[in-house]
Amino acid sequence: MRHRGSSSGPWLSGQRYVTTMDVILLFFTGHVCDETVGLVAADANIKHNILRTSLEKALPPVYGDRIQLQQVLLNLLSNSFDAMETTRDFREVLISTVRLDAAMIKVSVRDSGPGIPVQDIPRLFTRFFTSKPDGLGMGLPISRSIIETHGGALMVENNPDNGATFSFTLPVPPGGAA
Ligand SMILES: Nc1ncnc2c1ncn2[C@@H]1O[C@H](COP(=O)(O)OP(=O)(O)O)[C@@H](O)[C@H]1O
Ligand SMILES: [Mg+2]
Repeated sequence: MRHRGSSSGPWLSGQRYVTTMDVILLFFTGHVCDETVGLVAADANIKHNILRTSLEKALPPVYGDRIQLQQVLLNLLSNSFDAMETTRDFREVLISTVRLDAAMIKVSVRDSGPGIPVQDIPRLFTRFFTSKPDGLGMGLPISRSIIETHGGALMVENNPDNGATFSFTLPVPPGGAA
């Protein structure tokens, strides 16, 4: 574990704004995915959603704040569950991890909901954009900011059949060979 000096980082309204990189932890993405699945398993069950994982073995560990990364996964899963509420037959979320290349890993959350109307895609990551009567529209912008602070990118695409897939990349630290 490496602790960076607390004097670094931006300040906001006189209060210290804690960035993810203040405490840098080495963690295994597969463990974070498994932990997150454990947290939402009961909810998935109640909603009759099947939750599957396809985690690549021997992924290199990455640096970051695992609680924040878990928050991103929770946001994406919660959105998938919301989206599948109107789905009748096949409600499945697949969380997968792959090593993209020497420098990056990718985590994806794929659901079998209705997908995203094309006109909404450019606005999805804008603050306060929501299609839900009780939505806040903050989950995706916060998630994107967390991923970007970690040196990765958060993307979305509609699946060729049905549903949407949100994916994020995370950099592999130098020397992080699998
Ligand atoms: N998996 C998904 N399938 C379909 N639409 C989605 C999905 N995830 C997010 N969205 C759309 O993006 C919007 C913004 O999501 P988010 O920022 O998490 O805010 P909120 O969940 O409060 O609406 C949602 O209201 C919804 O319209
Ligand atoms: Mg949300």
